[in-house]
Amino acid sequence: MKLTEKEQALLDGKHGHGLKKAMEILMSLGRIYGAKEMVPITSAQIAGVSYKNIGDPGLEFLTDWADQDARVHVPAFMNPAGIDRQLWRQLRFPEAFAQKQIEIIEVLKRMGVRATLTCTPYHIGIVPQQGEHIAWSESSAVSYANSILGARTNREGGPSALAAAFCGRTPRFGLHLHENRLATHRVLIKCRLKSSADFGLLGYSIGKKVGSGIPLFQGLGLPTDATKRTAYLKALGAAMAASGAVALYHIQGFTPEAIAYGDRIVKSDAMTIEIKSAKNGKTPLTPNYPITRLPNYQILSLDEARQTLNQDGDQIDLVTLGCPHASLEELKEIASVIGNHQLKKPLWIASSAIVREQARANGIIEIIEKAGGSVLADTCMVVAPLEEMGIKFIATNSAKAAAYLPSHQGAIVHFGTTEECIEAAIKGHF
Ligand code: F3S
Repeated sequence: MKLTEKEQALLDGKHGHGLKKAMEILMSLGRIYGAKEMVPITSAQIAGVSYKNIGDPGLEFLTDWADQDARVHVPAFMNPAGIDRQLWRQLRFPEAFAQKQIEIIEVLKRMGVRATLTCTPYHIGIVPQQGEHIAWSESSAVSYANSILGARTNREGGPSALAAAFCGRTPRFGLHLHENRLATHRVLIKCRLKSSADFGLLGYSIGKKVGSGIPLFQGLGLPTDATKRTAYLKALGAAMAASGAVALYHIQGFTPEAIAYGDRIVKSDAMTIEIKSAKNGKTPLTPNYPITRLPNYQILSLDEARQTLNQDGDQIDLVTLGCPHASLEELKEIASVIGNHQLKKPLWIASSAIVREQARANGIIEIIEKAGGSVLADTCMVVAPLEEMGIKFIATNSAKAAAYLPSHQGAIVHFGTTEECIEAAIKGHF
């Protein structure tokens, strides 16, 4: 790999052992993926913050690096942790877990990483521009940044994003290169999707089908209301990144690269997937894969995805919304659905601390709390220690959360629309 003088100095340890180690990580990645050079980045988003995910070995690794004087050289932000720093006692999070979690946050802060603790940094003013190179690591944030904002990032791991933040650069490979951002699949939508849950189901189905491919959606009807549109797109991207490894998608006539390149954004050998309404009217959507172009021909339906994500029974311990983290407008909508109702079961809505403060100032938090619900900041249902807290039956409107909760929390999951989830919290069952 061709290095600049500064990069060579970093690698030679002239800026300290912490940065040398960071540069070595980036060099290894670059070699593995055939990068010819490094590219400067403007920000880094660091995943692997929750103690639930990284445990003591992760804490030790971070502490060692911090002790070697490694400090970030571009703005860097933390992904959600395992606790809400304000509410963990009130919500009965385990004390020992919380203490370890606080240690991790403090170590990252010592290295200069901002404790934003959110997977939707773009809701708190961190909005990279089209063409900007960044090193983000939470998969739904990566998907949003690449697809909707047109920024360029690979799906980084926690350590590689941190290494990139220390060195201010990342190896130029994968999605940093235009030729790797072309669509591998056309997805023709011939039906109407009506909720963020529908977009989540679509994402879950397509992610399973395309793996790490890049879909171009054609005919995807988007709401004119900007709040709904953003919520739906977040749900779509998050689900595709969870069931598959989709880090970038295009929407014809909407996303920046689809607009800029028109049909040239699609690879000449792209496969086609068609999604249409079923004839009997019962199944709302049926993706149909033309037999001539896909060797492993399969007919799936979104109903099938809904069934996969929904387990038997109607019992719930907890209803969770806000995966990815909710925006202020989404919190407002949730509060309006709750209205004057009283909740029989806990309702947790995940968001960032900044958005929660804005919602408090707008009287939104008061409505939710009066009903018996909570807006959690800094954490989420997947990275909090729910299993340890004895929470087993969970309802959610997020296809990503529904896909992860059984394996990450040993949970029994119910998946539905936002309204169905809130209704479940009101009634006490799903
Ligand atoms: Fe964000 Fe947690 Fe979902 S990190 S995307 S709320 S699993």
